[in-house]
Amino acid sequence: MKKQQSKLLVGNWKMHGRLASNAVLLHTLVQRAATLGPQVQLAVCVPYPYLAQAQTSLENTPIDYGVQDVSAYMHGAYTGEVSAPMVAEFGATLAIVGHSERRIFHSESSELVAVKAQRALEAGITPIICVGETLDERRAGQTDNVVYTQLSAVLNVLEKADVARLIIAYEPFWAIGTGRIPTAQQMQKVYTVIRTQLMAEVNVHVPLLYGGSLKPSNAQELFSQSEIDGALIGAASLSAIDFLAIAKAASTVLSENLDYFK
Ligand code: 13P
Repeated sequence: MKKQQSKLLVGNWKMHGRLASNAVLLHTLVQRAATLGPQVQLAVCVPYPYLAQAQTSLENTPIDYGVQDVSAYMHGAYTGEVSAPMVAEFGATLAIVGHSERRIFHSESSELVAVKAQRALEAGITPIICVGETLDERRAGQTDNVVYTQLSAVLNVLEKADVARLIIAYEPFWAIGTGRIPTAQQMQKVYTVIRTQLMAEVNVHVPLLYGGSLKPSNAQELFSQSEIDGALIGAASLSAIDFLAIAKAASTVLSENLDYFK
């Protein structure tokens, strides 16, 4: 078993929220974050209009914040796009890129995802690169190949020093919002593919998150898997009670690990 030092839990609000409910949620997270211990890092990725609210509520707190996408362009005539330097002005430090809901519903290619990651890095923002297969791809036995190819597109364009600044999230599309999660064995296989690829091609170690139907009831079991450095959490991150319960589960697993290594 690998000794683990910390877990990163990122809430992906997707297209949810209102000023009033966000204020309550963020306030509760700030109040409770300190009780989780320094080894559990919380973050939220909010819709663009709520970035200023996140900045006001979270600046100078231990909770990080960011967005769910950035443009592949720095500025220009790209109606509806939001650039990485714009979100950096609001103190955002994270940007999800290549979420399956963007790859599938907005036809984003892995090459576009790679350019978006580059733009985020140039603006000093850490990209959380999402990779993962659809149910059809899993059934066809293509999971490893899909994940490898998605990651390759990013590794092909980034310098090694920039790869070392990435966070990678494995989010099988079929597990998002469905209540289904991969078995430990399925998970282990994919994490091995990602780690092996990173070591072979750039020899770097970056945090690997898991995303898809994470809940307080399955969090502890999931975090017990030593390859998982944290999570990208959708629906459950909209409830302070659930998000904090997941964070508590991460904290419990970490303290158990520490006891084990004493
Ligand atoms: P759910 O936790 O709602 O399944 O969503 C996961 C996700 O897509 C996080 O980015």
